[in-house]
Amino acid sequence: MLVDVFTLVPEAFEWITRRRPLAAVLGDELELRVFNYRDTTPLGARQVDDEPYGGGAGMVLRVDVVAAALDAVYGGLPEHRVIALSPGGRGLDQALVEELAAEPALTLLSARFEGFDQRIVDHLSTDVISIGPYVLSGGEVPALAVLDAVARRLPGALREESGERESFSEVFDGGLEHPHYTRPAEFRGWRVPEILLSGDHAEIERWRMSRVRSVT
Ligand SMILES: C[S@@+](CC[C@H](N)C(=O)[O-])C[C@H]1O[C@@H](n2cnc3c(N)ncnc32)[C@H](O)[C@@H]1O
Repeated sequence: MLVDVFTLVPEAFEWITRRRPLAAVLGDELELRVFNYRDTTPLGARQVDDEPYGGGAGMVLRVDVVAAALDAVYGGLPEHRVIALSPGGRGLDQALVEELAAEPALTLLSARFEGFDQRIVDHLSTDVISIGPYVLSGGEVPALAVLDAVARRLPGALREESGERESFSEVFDGGLEHPHYTRPAEFRGWRVPEILLSGDHAEIERWRMSRVRSVT
């Protein structure tokens, strides 16, 4: 899978490539490329944004700048999905993550300041995705969230098959995973549930499934 990220803060994507799950799949199941809009802007002085028509606070990411960035990389619009990250988009949930992880390639567009010129959303993007009903300062954290969640679903990303037994998975009927405990068995009087120390794997599994919570 190929993921291309367009951003004004390329350095935001450095650490994640050195950590699992990305580190495990990079160069194998995943190719990640990060592009800075400023490197291909047709405007002078590496300008990428402008004042909003009609007035108001903040700067808006220009449509010609994003088009130039896409032209430079794809020679136009790519065949694959181009996702504008925006608080007004479709909410990212596990079903959408699974859908994205099955794609051969994705492009993630992030903005800062006041956001995208609407023509970027209308004409250069195929999807708009939000990571939640709140406003962040830029699309980098949302892009990292998409990247991490998608990378977890790629073959070899996780050490064990723990991805099959996670919150929202079929094993838990789309519900939230049961709690986990590790050593010590008692800490400040807080005991680990006895059943987990019993060695009775069938009973442990029954207990775990009884602790799966449905998503409300
Ligand atoms: C400060 S926000 C712009 C907010 C915009 N003016 C509004 O009121 O909806 C700057 C950029 O951060 C990104 N962003 C902020 N919150 C986001 C969220 N919840 N999900 C996805 N992207 C988000 C988007 O790329 C957005 O254009």
